Amino acid sequence: MRTAVVLLLLLVAACGGKKDDGGEPNIPVGSGKSGDDTAREQARFDSERKPEKVVEALGIKPGSRVADVGAGTGLLTVHLARAVAPNGTVVATDIDGAVLELLQSRLAAAGLAEIVERRVVGSETPGLEAGAYDAILLAEVDHYFTDEVAWLKAATAALKPGGRIVISNRIHHRPRSMAAGQKAGLVLQFELTPVPTHFIAVFVAPPAQPAPPPAHGGK
Ligand SMILES: C[S@@+](CC[C@H](N)C(=O)[O-])C[C@H]1O[C@@H](n2cnc3c(N)ncnc32)[C@H](O)[C@@H]1O
Repeated sequence: MRTAVVLLLLLVAACGGKKDDGGEPNIPVGSGKSGDDTAREQARFDSERKPEKVVEALGIKPGSRVADVGAGTGLLTVHLARAVAPNGTVVATDIDGAVLELLQSRLAAAGLAEIVERRVVGSETPGLEAGAYDAILLAEVDHYFTDEVAWLKAATAALKPGGRIVISNRIHHRPRSMAAGQKAGLVLQFELTPVPTHFIAVFVAPPAQPAPPPAHGGK
């Protein structure tokens, strides 16, 4: 019993449970809540965060491959999976394998488990394969990176040509996020403020530099 209580506390602290505004924590699916409670949790999240605006910013469509970095219990992932279904993929990463188990339950309940690949990653590395992603989403996660500039540079290599890196976070994190994007060499395409609490910033990789002309004068 003591072990079960400790486990539950750890999972709630891990996120969806963790919010940095001191507000009421999200209760993850699979934590003993009923299906109705899970639906209410999702409805409250959707009205607070407007995930359809995040999907729009990502520019994803059926068949896209998108990474959801720091996906937590999957409250956003479920929207990404619907957007890329039936033949696309969401790679949901997190440093915490336990929250990804809860994410899997949420996606399975929505009939979207096949669309999502879970991946436990290290805290300072994206863990995403090169040249493979139409879009990479960082939602309420970039403030955890120790070196955000290095992280973003590494993630840029995972984009397909024309791919997007989308950062969404609480408004008070915006100056740090925007400065990191700029220092990483990303180009800001546009910004949205879908709700007063959160910003969404859409970046692309800088244009490739033309290769230098071949050196002449050799033998
Ligand atoms: C506040 S939750 C955000 C969950 C979801 N993205 C959302 O917007 O609702 C932050 C999540 O990021 C994860 N996380 C923290 N540092 C991370 C890192 N360096 N790489 C990947 N995930 C990380 C945490 O484990 C947690 O699940």
